[in-house]
Amino acid sequence: MVTVVGLGFVGLTTALGFAEYGHKVYGIEANPERLDTIRQGELPFLEPGLDEALTRHLGKNFIPTSDWETAVADSEYIYYCVGTPYGKDGQADLTYLYGAIEQTLAAIHDEKYRVLVTKSTVPPSTTQSRVIPFLEERGVKIPEQMGVANNPEFLREGHCWDDFMNADRIVLGVSDPQSEEKLRALYENCGCPVYAVSLNTGEFIKYLSNTSLACLISFSNEMSVAADAIGGIDVAEAFRILHLDDRWQHGGIRAYFYPGCGYGGYCLPKDTNAFYAVAKSNGFDGAILKNVIATNDAMPEITAKRIMERAGEDRSVCIAILGLSFNAGSDDVRDAPSAKIIRQLNDHGYSNIVAYDPVAIGEFQKHYQVDCRYAGSYEEALAEADLAAITTAWPMFKDIKEKTDKPIVDCRYIL
Ligand SMILES: NC(=O)c1ccc[n+]([C@@H]2O[C@H](COP(=O)([O-])OP(=O)(O)OC[C@H]3O[C@@H](n4cnc5c(N)ncnc54)[C@H](O)[C@@H]3O)[C@@H](O)[C@H]2O)c1
Repeated sequence: MVTVVGLGFVGLTTALGFAEYGHKVYGIEANPERLDTIRQGELPFLEPGLDEALTRHLGKNFIPTSDWETAVADSEYIYYCVGTPYGKDGQADLTYLYGAIEQTLAAIHDEKYRVLVTKSTVPPSTTQSRVIPFLEERGVKIPEQMGVANNPEFLREGHCWDDFMNADRIVLGVSDPQSEEKLRALYENCGCPVYAVSLNTGEFIKYLSNTSLACLISFSNEMSVAADAIGGIDVAEAFRILHLDDRWQHGGIRAYFYPGCGYGGYCLPKDTNAFYAVAKSNGFDGAILKNVIATNDAMPEITAKRIMERAGEDRSVCIAILGLSFNAGSDDVRDAPSAKIIRQLNDHGYSNIVAYDPVAIGEFQKHYQVDCRYAGSYEEALAEADLAAITTAWPMFKDIKEKTDKPIVDCRYIL
């Protein structure tokens, strides 16, 4: 029996994935609205395939609950999938993780051996230097009474279910044989290699993955800005031809070696910052990563400038912002470049902005207060606008040239 704490993108996917493997899973969620939605068989966000998994397992292998006592009493595994947002100086904020561990300890009233597993993304050394001491300070004997491990998650939003069910590797950060054995048993049916590594290595692999992707994106963006400065270069064509090189052909990696308006979403911005901060606090100031972050931070302004150059001096010109989610296929707007671009435009006096996104307008309105209005359809946005900027690479925007002859700024290089 498994308890998964936090039913966001990672937690709900993990809970339903374990249910699909045949395990019994409790899902604990602190947000009552989110818990109710899930209990009614609905997803709190857009994720293809996850809705069907919820229908299959709800009330059978998967029980969403707020009852810590029952869930923890029955479970041998407690999985933490809570948020680890930006903290002080870019460091990961572990408040939710500590809170969930406290709640777990308060619900334990027996001697059963349990493994506490952090699936949230936490910087290397967190389990060893922060989670274990946190538990020991509260009188827990590790590993005699309890196992502590990490199990980083590599799924992409918009592909959560497929990525979890067709994972290419499972990483277990472990420090004692009993936890390793139990975690291997949990993943028995996963159909891919399972690697058990040290606690710090497990956490490091996740940051190695995210920072490498961020490097590719920032480098692509830097090259696109350099190409614009030189002039006469078709950036989209250049990258697409580059991708024909056989070495870029396999897997989805080329999506990251492509320019746009900066990476956003919940993970890459905060994880690059957290890794840079943890290395720096350990005496290493990483020059490449520092500039990867700086390049990304500069992208909204650079993108807004491209849009303003096309808009001209007249501040009353109507600009359509096409795409609000951080990535196509998702309604997640956390750290979305679109919001930063609209803010930049507003700061320069452009407030006649009409924004459109096929799925993310509601989420965007909840998260951001920017000076713009929202169109009910793609066509309506184009009809109102004098100029359109594509800020999320939704496939539907690829036909824009057939729909309008107004000026277009293709900030995602999809045309
Ligand atoms: N989103 C991704 O693509 C992705 C991919 C890999 C790893 N991660 C990592 O996984 C973690 C979770 O990310 P997410 O996108 O699923 O976050 P999320 O914000 O969508 O979900 C976190 C959930 O945890 C709940 N929560 C917080 N404290 C709780 C508590 N004490 N008890 C019960 N519920 C609690 C919140 O209400 C929220 O619903 C983060 O560390 C993130 O970096 C995310």
